[in-house]
Amino acid sequence: MRRLDSSAIISAFELNVSCPNVRAGGIEFCSDSASLATVVSGARAATRRPIFVKLSPVLPNIGETAKTAADSGADGITVVNTIPGLVVDIESRKPRVGFGTGGTSGAGLLPVAVLATHLVRSAVSLPIIGVGGVASATDALQFLIAGASLVGVGTANLRDPRAAERIARDLDRWCNSHGVAAIQNLIGTLEWPS
Ligand SMILES: Cc1cc2nc3c(=O)[nH]c(=O)nc-3n(C[C@H](O)[C@H](O)[C@H](O)COP(=O)(O)O)c2cc1C
Repeated sequence: MRRLDSSAIISAFELNVSCPNVRAGGIEFCSDSASLATVVSGARAATRRPIFVKLSPVLPNIGETAKTAADSGADGITVVNTIPGLVVDIESRKPRVGFGTGGTSGAGLLPVAVLATHLVRSAVSLPIIGVGGVASATDALQFLIAGASLVGVGTANLRDPRAAERIARDLDRWCNSHGVAAIQNLIGTLEWPS
């Protein structure tokens, strides 16, 4: 990280403290607040660039975890990484992917990730990158309204490499047809039922 810090092409770092495919120990750094604080404060000491901390959707209290990341020097939070899953090969009766389990992404992750965005927005005031199941402008708008400042597109690109371009175009259309002058005006405007 120190070596990359002076590189002109690096704008920011994202710490993946939530990858479910790591063999050692299996589950993530971010599920233990002391480990999370050590990783984030260590990274903070190594760079002047913005640091985003990417969290898992299966944390018991994602808001608290986001607070730990914020208190340790994070500049933003990315929600979410994939949900651990298992696909069984019914002939061999063995897992079909990697180390047994793998990350579940795509459409099923969308409401999980939008809720995580809302919970993190309610807990910290840092910028949020929302990611998980986005395949349309409607999906991206949900993240923005729930509190994300930026929206990521992963799996949808595998089906349609021009997904991000299409979503950006449709977002523009939606804003124009709804009298939204700037997309920033939508961020965190969720009306929670009282
Ligand atoms: C093939 C694949 C590889 C991924 N690799 C990483 C990775 O190396 N690090 C990481 O933080 N997230 C990784 N992810 C998770 C994505 O960045 C994203 O958080 C997740 O897939 C949810 O978004 P999506 O539903 O739009 O794909 C990967 C996802 C996929 C599908």
